[in-house]
Amino acid sequence: TLALLSPQDLAGETVLVTAGPTREELDPVRYLSNYSSGKMGYAIARAARRRGARVILVSGPTALAAPVGIELVPVTSARQMREAVLQRLEEATVVIKAAAVADYRPAMRAEQKIKKGLEGSLILPLEKNPDILAELGSRKGNRLLVGFAAETADLLENARKKLTEKNLDLIVANDVSRSDAGFDVDTNAVRLLYRDGSGEELPLLGKDEVADQLLDRIARLLKPSL
Ligand code: CTP
Ligand code: CA
Repeated sequence: TLALLSPQDLAGETVLVTAGPTREELDPVRYLSNYSSGKMGYAIARAARRRGARVILVSGPTALAAPVGIELVPVTSARQMREAVLQRLEEATVVIKAAAVADYRPAMRAEQKIKKGLEGSLILPLEKNPDILAELGSRKGNRLLVGFAAETADLLENARKKLTEKNLDLIVANDVSRSDAGFDVDTNAVRLLYRDGSGEELPLLGKDEVADQLLDRIARLLKPSL
């Protein structure tokens, strides 16, 4: 019923969204992760569906309900997220990477729970995870590629750099040092930066509203005539 009130401006598109954190296991009972709740990515997935897109949501572990009418692909680690994304990439006309992917994982996963018996401190070697978005950018094709930049300092400069280096069409710059924006809250304040060097600031909005604003811009990039 809601769909009847929404513009069907994403009809015919297949939107692949990633959301949530990843978890990098250390042993059978512990992991390395971050504060991402998945709320922004799920809001984008629901909004894209309402606007007529076919939606595939590759999601790390979250407490959120599976959105209706959306293909949900649950994953845990960054490497699993990469596999799931690459597997469905060919179908996607738009990819939106809202997930907070862990940059590093423990170099080894202990088979048994690590015991605290050691003297002094425990040093954990970490290995770098694959950068999924950078990989998508290097084989972009005709797909529209949208990234997020989570920053606590030098927001615009860092986000602009990611936009260029990962070969994106649009990046959502997110100041995650604010308590009313970014990780694990219902509102967000973002700047949208484009390939041509332009940018715009959105006011503090609910994540559902940010999602629709973002999809407005994406629909326009897909169909410049409208
Ligand atoms: N990203 C990804 N794979 C990774 C790391 C990040 O696909 N291993 C994606 C995120 O989903 C996001 C974008 O890249 O869309 C930027 O993520 P962010 O953490 O802000 O930047 P990084 O490139 O990881 O750089 P840094 O954390 O050092 O700022
Ligand atoms: Ca990162």
